[in-house]
Amino acid sequence: MSAERTQVAIVGGGPAGLLLSHLLRARGIDSVVLEARPRERVETRQRAGILEHGTVDVLREIGAAGRMDRLGLPHDGFELRFDGRGVRVDMQELTGRNVMIWAQTEITKDLIALRLEQGEPLLFSAEVLAVEDVGTDAPRVRYRYEGVERELRADVVVGADGFHGVARAAIPASRVTTYERVYPYSWLGILADVAPSSHELIYARGARGFALASMRSPTVTRAYIQVPNGTDASSWSDDAIWDELADRFALDDGSFTLARGPITDKSVTAMRSFVGAPMRHGRLFLAGDAAHIVPPTGAKGLNLAVADVRLLAEALGEWYASKDEALLDAYSGTALRRVWRASHFSWTMTTMLHRDPGADPFDEQLALSHLRLIESSDSERRTIAENYRGLALGGA
Ligand code: PHB
Repeated sequence: MSAERTQVAIVGGGPAGLLLSHLLRARGIDSVVLEARPRERVETRQRAGILEHGTVDVLREIGAAGRMDRLGLPHDGFELRFDGRGVRVDMQELTGRNVMIWAQTEITKDLIALRLEQGEPLLFSAEVLAVEDVGTDAPRVRYRYEGVERELRADVVVGADGFHGVARAAIPASRVTTYERVYPYSWLGILADVAPSSHELIYARGARGFALASMRSPTVTRAYIQVPNGTDASSWSDDAIWDELADRFALDDGSFTLARGPITDKSVTAMRSFVGAPMRHGRLFLAGDAAHIVPPTGAKGLNLAVADVRLLAEALGEWYASKDEALLDAYSGTALRRVWRASHFSWTMTTMLHRDPGADPFDEQLALSHLRLIESSDSERRTIAENYRGLALGGA
């Protein structure tokens, strides 16, 4: 077995792990990124695409924002639609900040390209078998690469390998408290070669459930509809999807027209909230989906992962520079405060906009009352806007 050494072993080459490697490099800290999947799988995975301003800032800071600044779409507001009418939430006016539409897939491509350009270690198809000895000051990652079992020794291991990754399993179950909610519906998502029907996102509570109109570019529409759990994407014809979207976005005054076009991708996503606490065990630190999952309503998943690794990079920088462990010790608590804020916000958006098949008329009326409050109250709209565009890093 061959053994190597680095300062920080990063398990997972999605946006969290890749971004962390760049933030560490900027602080003169070496890392090795191990990603289980092949490069093209990482680069084609469709996920949400709303970036908080803090996420935008950090991509600029590490020099990975060139394409985003050219091709990303800044959005100052979004719309909530219910009962045949729309309410605009003007983030720019209410909070002085906006968000950027730039797909996670594109960020991942840029972070990979930059890492390889720098000649820094990033291995694809490197299957991590186990994270060991995290309770000592010499943790190790065992992995298989090109058919050979190898070992990576490090000062610290960061688990950024997603919800189904192996890193979280290295923490004894007795040391972790998990919090979970599985929602009684899923999203059927499509990509279509047609210009978006609206220049801003529309989150709709329709008669038969939620729908979201989003976009990937001025010529590519991204849209979602609520479907029952267990739905097979191929059971929905293109026409049925467009008809359902048209119905859920319909305005009473007839002023909304849905633009239809060829659908190039269909997939179903389950909706889940999950938090595992603490996000640290000894020399193992978890970041992103490895530690927490939010449902996609509100697009917080990627932004939370980015916030985690920003905190972690700062804490590791401090530790290597001065042996001061205070920020490392504070990492889990600080990150979890933001995770819970985002979990609450995502839960609020989700339950307010979806139709729970098990809900009673009381639940329905509460959801509608909250939407009307957002419509009539500046302070409630501001609260939604602040959460959507993202709070300051330590501000949750
Ligand atoms: C998306 O464009 O994929 C998207 C946008 C906003 C969300 C979720 C997903 O809240």
